[in-house]
Amino acid sequence: MRTIAVLNYKGGVGKTTFTISTSQALAMSGFRVLAIDNDSQHHLSLLLDEDGQRPLSIRDIYRSSVGVAGKKLMDSIVETNLRNFHVIPSHAELSGHDIRDPYILQKAIGYCSLNRFYDFILIDNSPGIDLLQETALHAADEIFVPTELSYFAVNGIIELHRILAKRFRDCCSITKIIANGYRGTNKHDEYLEALKSLYPEKITETYIPYDTVFDTCMKEQKTLFIHKLFSKAAAHYLKLIHELFDLDEKKVWEQVCDVKQSQLRNEARQRIFDQQKKGQAQGGGPEGEENSKLKLHFQRQTESDDNPFFKNSRY
Ligand SMILES: Nc1ncnc2c1ncn2[C@@H]1O[C@H](COP(=O)(O)OP(=O)(O)OP(=O)(O)O)[C@@H](O)[C@H]1O
Ligand SMILES: [Mg+2]
Repeated sequence: MRTIAVLNYKGGVGKTTFTISTSQALAMSGFRVLAIDNDSQHHLSLLLDEDGQRPLSIRDIYRSSVGVAGKKLMDSIVETNLRNFHVIPSHAELSGHDIRDPYILQKAIGYCSLNRFYDFILIDNSPGIDLLQETALHAADEIFVPTELSYFAVNGIIELHRILAKRFRDCCSITKIIANGYRGTNKHDEYLEALKSLYPEKITETYIPYDTVFDTCMKEQKTLFIHKLFSKAAAHYLKLIHELFDLDEKKVWEQVCDVKQSQLRNEARQRIFDQQKKGQAQGGGPEGEENSKLKLHFQRQTESDDNPFFKNSRY
């Protein structure tokens, strides 16, 4: 199991987008992934079904004693609409004051032997380095730093590097830096070059281009690799996954396409089911007839499909 803290001193640089996209791509490639929302803004938690129960959050783990933190952790895990992808949600009032022991998350993960259940844990963090991020850093083996390409962002990385070295010595250092929101301008090329010369071993070859599709996906609660697979953003993310995790690019692509097709079929089924129910509630009529035709059409298409995602689909 690899545990990765997604961190940056600076806000709004794509940490949450990176955590979500990477987790989804890994889960669609067949890995078991847990994403932990360690940010009171709880943007990552918005991926979850709002109707679903969310009894516990990361805050409950932090506020527990070591003895019960493991149980709280297991109880706080929630399924998403993607198979193999689970989330521990955050809480709007989460703060460093909730943390009594900065090693609590590391201990809870070990106590539950999460390595038996997951291949990857990704921890999304709020900007800065406070007690909250420190707790994530102790739990993680690697630190991934998404960054935008600007003067302040590059300075922020230098600062982050310095703070990590000073506060954590050798135990926590940046593993990879990922340039995000690249627009192909001279300025962006300049900052990309600056990062390459400062951290040649750490900056990834693959950058993530600027693409409004991220915002659309978040707003409409869509999955990038299902609903916008043929976008620049998805293509670059799949390349990035291949680079960061040394995966076979062709195999990942095939697996993602398979999951996309199954999931879209299930969404269509669910839509028909919902329309049918609506038609029945309105007493049949033309809408009801139309639904029966549609239903027949999709039934023929999906007859042999025994899809495990249907169970969890929120659509
Ligand atoms: N490559 C990109 N192209 C276009 N928009 C992007 C890209 N990456 C992220 N965004 C958008 O930028 C905004 C900030 O991204 P995100 O929330 O991932 O940043 P963050 O670092 O997690 O922010 P915070 O520090 O507040 O937690 C979001 O609206 C997101 O959709
Ligand atoms: Mg964020």
